[in-house]
Amino acid sequence: MVDLSVDLGFLKLKNPVLAASGTFGYGLEFAPYLNLEKLGGFIVKGLYYGPREGNPPPRLVETPSGLINAIGLQGIGVDAFAAKVLPKLKGLDTAVIVNVCGETEEEYVRVVEFLNGLEGIAAFELNISCPNVRQGGACPALDPGTTFRLVKAVKRTSRLPIITKLSPNVTSIAEIAAAAEEAGADAISLVNTFLAMAIDVGTRRPKLTNVFGGLSGPAIKPIALRMVYQVASRVKVPVIGIGGISSGADALEFLLAGARAVEVGTANFVDPDASLRIIREIGEFCELHGIQQVEELIGKLDTNTNAIKKVTKYERH
Ligand SMILES: Cc1cc2nc3c(=O)[nH]c(=O)nc-3n(C[C@H](O)[C@H](O)[C@H](O)COP(=O)(O)O)c2cc1C
Repeated sequence: MVDLSVDLGFLKLKNPVLAASGTFGYGLEFAPYLNLEKLGGFIVKGLYYGPREGNPPPRLVETPSGLINAIGLQGIGVDAFAAKVLPKLKGLDTAVIVNVCGETEEEYVRVVEFLNGLEGIAAFELNISCPNVRQGGACPALDPGTTFRLVKAVKRTSRLPIITKLSPNVTSIAEIAAAAEEAGADAISLVNTFLAMAIDVGTRRPKLTNVFGGLSGPAIKPIALRMVYQVASRVKVPVIGIGGISSGADALEFLLAGARAVEVGTANFVDPDASLRIIREIGEFCELHGIQQVEELIGKLDTNTNAIKKVTKYERH
């Protein structure tokens, strides 16, 4: 039996696979399709303080290997979450993580203050990225100084560990990660979606009402992987890898690059059971390669480029 558990320091997960925020509802919606307790955990849809309707449709566009979404962070707000959802999640034997959003620093703090006292939440994931805002919108994750201030303010308030979730829409992701770590983030998760757009050539109009959206899915995996590697090389806190993961091999790439856990997003829309399949595939890989504990693989990327050449040559013959 392979030991799939991973230790984030502040939280032990039974396996390294979490379902990503916004692609897994509040968890309950997926209960008919898979046993939630087999997951390492899941992150619920982003919560602002009050309920929000999100953007008007159309707000989803399919691309050849991904999805552009401009949902606009539709959500039920903290009151309804505490009254109607959390009581049903509380007894589950898996990590329930709440994705926290805010229009302002004060709103992030208010959300955390409200949820702080409630039982059944393992950690907060701070969503400091905002890929859907129209031009001119300020987004904390785009600037190290703003990231530092926001994480510090939330950390001061929070009774629970803080996972800071980064936006990939920056030049130097490692710099933002370092600012979050310095401000006290207990872990870093990345990436959120890439700012994107699509045009209907017939009407000459944007396909999304919001014009811009966030690209996710297999198309972003190689870029997300590069960013996770850069961040894991820079910070000491645990890193959670996200971006286009749809197989056990994809997840293993992120672990080798230094992630201690991964989140599965868009793949849940293709196959609601994707996360459990990925867990099975990680286990099968470990068994095949005689690896007893999945933690043995974390950060074990071999960067000996001479060896890469040798293997390539060998495979050509
Ligand atoms: C429809 C949709 C809604 C999302 N909503 C949220 C959200 O509420 N909060 C958040 O932090 N990320 C949100 N995300 C981003 C995902 O959690 C994830 O970071 C991103 O999709 C990249 O992973 P993937 O390629 O596996 O989907 C959303 C993504 C999609 C596709």
